[in-house]
Amino acid sequence: MQAHPDAVRDQAARPTIELDHHGADYRDRWQEISDGNVASCPVAHTAAHGGTWVVSGYEHVVEALRDHAVFSSYQDHTDPGGPMRGTSNPPIPALNVPQELDPPLHTVYRRLLNGPLSPEQSRRREPFIRQVTAACLDRFSAKGQADLVAELTNPVPAIVTLGILGVPLTDWERYAGPIHLLTYSPPGSASWTEAMTAVGEMMAVLGALVVARRAEPTGDLISVLATATGDDGELLPLDHVIATAGLVVAGGVDTTTALVSHALHWLHRNPADRDRLIADPGLLPTAVDEFLRVLAPVQFMSRTATRDTVLGGQRIAAGERVMLAFAAANRDPAAFDCPAEMRLDRTPNRHVAFGSGVHRCVGAHLAKVEAVVMLDEILRRIPDYVIDEQAAERYPSIGAINGYIGMPSTFTPTPAVGAVFPASESV
Ligand code: HEM
Repeated sequence: MQAHPDAVRDQAARPTIELDHHGADYRDRWQEISDGNVASCPVAHTAAHGGTWVVSGYEHVVEALRDHAVFSSYQDHTDPGGPMRGTSNPPIPALNVPQELDPPLHTVYRRLLNGPLSPEQSRRREPFIRQVTAACLDRFSAKGQADLVAELTNPVPAIVTLGILGVPLTDWERYAGPIHLLTYSPPGSASWTEAMTAVGEMMAVLGALVVARRAEPTGDLISVLATATGDDGELLPLDHVIATAGLVVAGGVDTTTALVSHALHWLHRNPADRDRLIADPGLLPTAVDEFLRVLAPVQFMSRTATRDTVLGGQRIAAGERVMLAFAAANRDPAAFDCPAEMRLDRTPNRHVAFGSGVHRCVGAHLAKVEAVVMLDEILRRIPDYVIDEQAAERYPSIGAINGYIGMPSTFTPTPAVGAVFPASESV
């Protein structure tokens, strides 16, 4: 089949960049690469991973995020070779609800999560989050050393998320382990395959819980999902309900881990900022937004164009993939004054670290409370922590999440405060 002359002309004319977002070069120079793209090609095409547009300008990222009819999140599992390949690049071959549905079906599942993860409910959970954090700190504070990722920033969001879902809290490693491994494994690698198998096993356990709660609801988030009905009054399909619970686990676990790990690293490297937050913990909520903007835990999400369109002056054809670079958009000087500067008191701060539009992170409020509480507890109890930079290990790829595998640290030992792990938390 011969290509249409318009398509040939467009391909020849379009700006191209070489961006492999899973590559080590991007991981090591992502700020510099993002700044270059924002300045010279805010909407450009890369051949990497089968070819995709890369949108880096703030205004263009927001425009695409808000136009879900043209920039679709849908993954069509019945046609894996087709264009509708969801929000990950390369796609994750699993049902991701509600993230990879478009309205109106997206709305059915999204509205079930809005209430339990609302700003009010997230604030209400603060004592639970603080107790989990204090109990984690109690396990190592007297030793004077800890891996702050393995022993704090990974378990706290995992335990909190599982508590909200209604999963036994002692099971947290069974959930957080596979998600952590999947997040940092380059797609197709041996550890990625291992993680996919483990995620499959985790989903089977979660599925059994959904079935049990459908029969006997207990008031937790799994029960809310399991017993919800659609517009037709029928119970929602089991596979979609299980996938929604799975996405809450996936969304709730490694993202907040990445945010707080990077914030700790920033404060280790920037003592004046650390001293400022120790002196004025009331600044933490504003500082967390700035950490989200500058440290960008989730760097990209993709879409598929549903029709020919124009974005930032570039002609994007129906069926083409479009990758939205949140990390780059957050560094666009057209949207932020001196964007490379970390200003802990920056307001307003209209970053897109949580996305925008109908898919904007439903866990954003919870994530912010978690981050504030974790940083507050660390800065009060082990304020002089020092990270072993040689031993700290970043993710090999930040194609999706910019995180740390481990972060060995030392500090002046402080006694445990006698915090116990809470037994449970419900919606
Ligand atoms: C720092 C922490 C977090 C960051 C940076 C983050 C980032 C994001 C982003 C960028 C999206 C939009 C995806 C898109 O447009 O395709 C998203 C969606 C989502 N996030 Fe988060 N997230 C975080 C924490 C959480 C938490 C704590 C939860 C749940 C407990 C969660 C659950 C979800 C879910 C379910 C969606 C899909 C929403 C939808 O499609 O309507 N996230 N997140």
